[in-house]
Amino acid sequence: MGSKRESFRSIKGTFDVLPEESSSDGNTIAGSPSWRHVESVVREVMDRYGVREIRTPIIEPTPLIARGVGQTTDIVSKEMFAFERGDTQYVLRPEVTAPVMRAYLQHNLGQQRAVQKLFYIGPCFRAERPQRGRYRQFHQFGAEYIGSANVRADAEVIALMTDVYAGLGIGDCTVRLNTLGDVDARPSFVSALQDYLAPHVSALSETSRRRLEQNPLRILDTKNPVERELLVDAPRLSSFISDDSRDRYDRLKEMLDALGVTFVEDPFLVRGLDYYTETAFELETAALEGAQTALAGGGRYDLLAEELGARQPVPATGFAAGIERLLLAMKAHDARTVTDARPDLFVVLAGDDAATWGVEFVHQLRRAGARCELDLSGRSVKAQMREANRTRSRFVIVVGSTETASGEGRVRSMETGEEQNVRLTVESVRKLLATS
Ligand code: HAM
Repeated sequence: MGSKRESFRSIKGTFDVLPEESSSDGNTIAGSPSWRHVESVVREVMDRYGVREIRTPIIEPTPLIARGVGQTTDIVSKEMFAFERGDTQYVLRPEVTAPVMRAYLQHNLGQQRAVQKLFYIGPCFRAERPQRGRYRQFHQFGAEYIGSANVRADAEVIALMTDVYAGLGIGDCTVRLNTLGDVDARPSFVSALQDYLAPHVSALSETSRRRLEQNPLRILDTKNPVERELLVDAPRLSSFISDDSRDRYDRLKEMLDALGVTFVEDPFLVRGLDYYTETAFELETAALEGAQTALAGGGRYDLLAEELGARQPVPATGFAAGIERLLLAMKAHDARTVTDARPDLFVVLAGDDAATWGVEFVHQLRRAGARCELDLSGRSVKAQMREANRTRSRFVIVVGSTETASGEGRVRSMETGEEQNVRLTVESVRKLLATS
């Protein structure tokens, strides 16, 4: 071993989730109690909608993501954590829709149910420039409805998404909605857009100039004020889409109205992944300023399955949401905070004589379902009492040789200060903890 001590820190754009809500270096978003709260609300809402969980690997074949998400997207062209071992190319998944579709096709899930409603919660990786609300490892929850071409599925996915936020106390979200039409409408729109922008190329940013060649639809998504101004009079995708697409879009809006989902139409919403057709949406909050206002996004991706090798088209729609941004929005709203699990009883050991007895008693209480704490470092009674206070334990009992000999002790309520005698059996103590 070298003599110089090396210390390590988490990689930039990643963070630890601690039992505490904050960390000494400020590099955490929320504590594990908040994460667990969010995850449990997500699961509860998914259950209500009959959406079942799927877990796919963190690593996937790079070509799956390249083909699924699209070669010219930012995600694939600049943000992949990809590596090679032997002759296999791996990528840390930057999103979960393509992996879920891969799993659906691989396991023939379409044969089991006409519509598979699947959800996931887990980490994703994108090599973006880290900033508030944008990380290199982040977490998504999302739902994919695979097998339905009906707008009812789009409406349900959007309602499901907004229900999660309502369940977490974030009311001020806006759904931005658009239709991208089917792929047949794209080429004529794209060439109209290119023609319109051709005389203004010098005013465009380098990114937009590149997009104009490679992925012109994405220009609509620009945040650059000069470009936004330019786009005001640009041709509109809505004038190029088919009657069928327009009709679908109208029915979707009608259904969202009926479901009480408020939305605003945004003809410039195109999304940063290539697999979308028809419906596209994002969920925004005013609580997060800057570029990271998108809490969630999604849409229909009817062509992805074939892109991934399916012989038949498999219509599908879904959304994904960033958990970090959700937690930041919850903080901004003062929604939550979930108090963490506090112990029911802290057993303070007076002297070593009672130690074995205490360890066993606490063990039995825990097995019987009580949340019990015990000092593990042989500290003084006073220090143990301080610890009991710190953990916000509901009750405390001091046990020494007198108590173990008599089989009785005094339990003190930390809330009221009241004390009462209790027989030192699991049943009696459990009863006391349950009734008080
Ligand atoms: P996305 O818009 O790329 O869509 O990501 C969805 C959400 O993930 C974003 O709205 C944001 O909250 C969060 N997110 C994305 N990148 C980061 C990051 N670097 N740091 C923190 N949060 C981030 C998708 O991923 C699609 N798969 C959504 C979908 C599902 N479409 C159909 N089904």
